[in-house]
Amino acid sequence: MNGIFITFEGIEACGKSTQANYLYNYLESRRINSILTKEPGGTILGDLIRNIVLHETIFPVAELLLFLADRNQHINETIKPYMEKGYVVLCDRFYHSTYAYQASGRKIGIDIVRKFNELVIEGCRPDLTFLIDLPPEVGFERKRSANLVLDRIEKQNYDFHYAVRDAYLRLAGEDERIRVLDGMRPKEELKKDILSIITETFPNMKERITL
Ligand SMILES: Nc1ncnc2c1ncn2[C@@H]1O[C@H](COP(=O)(O)OP(=O)(O)O)[C@@H](O)[C@H]1O
Ligand SMILES: [Mg+2]
Repeated sequence: MNGIFITFEGIEACGKSTQANYLYNYLESRRINSILTKEPGGTILGDLIRNIVLHETIFPVAELLLFLADRNQHINETIKPYMEKGYVVLCDRFYHSTYAYQASGRKIGIDIVRKFNELVIEGCRPDLTFLIDLPPEVGFERKRSANLVLDRIEKQNYDFHYAVRDAYLRLAGEDERIRVLDGMRPKEELKKDILSIITETFPNMKERITL
């Protein structure tokens, strides 16, 4: 694989989509081949699954398997082909979300989730993950003030969202490819931090500039 795979993680409204878009626009402005994709979604099957998982009543194991089906399709249909072409692939949520939400939040357990996840990813792992950390109540306040509608998973109670946040931080403690950012900081500062981490981690990124 010649590409670079970067994922954005964190609880609702921590700023994943904001920062993923900033970085995508930056890479585009530098004419570095890149795509911005998301989970769930990112393929036709994935968009169908996204509608189901965010809006229907689903039991925890069924929910896990839907997210995993989405991931396997997404990897094979989108992520791997672009990685082979040498693109920078940006993904808004990936498998750390499954560990945080399904293994921990839904209490399915990390061991079983890891086994299933290993089956679906077929060796496809992020080179770098930005975990934007935020207290859940700040995320909810952002949603309220922006008048955003909460989906099925967002409507879970505070305990659920605290368990998710703690799980994310534990994962970051075990994996140096996860970089934790303080989501309370201003958007523009986070954007600069992300760019400096990218430049330091991938010093050859400039060579990807397409003219
Ligand atoms: N660093 C930040 N400080 C304050 N508000 C932010 C910050 N980053 C994002 N927001 C706002 O919070 C809301 C959710 O951001 P978004 O990027 O959609 O989060 P996510 O994709 O993680 O759910 C938006 O209204 C966005 O403008
Ligand atoms: Mg988002």
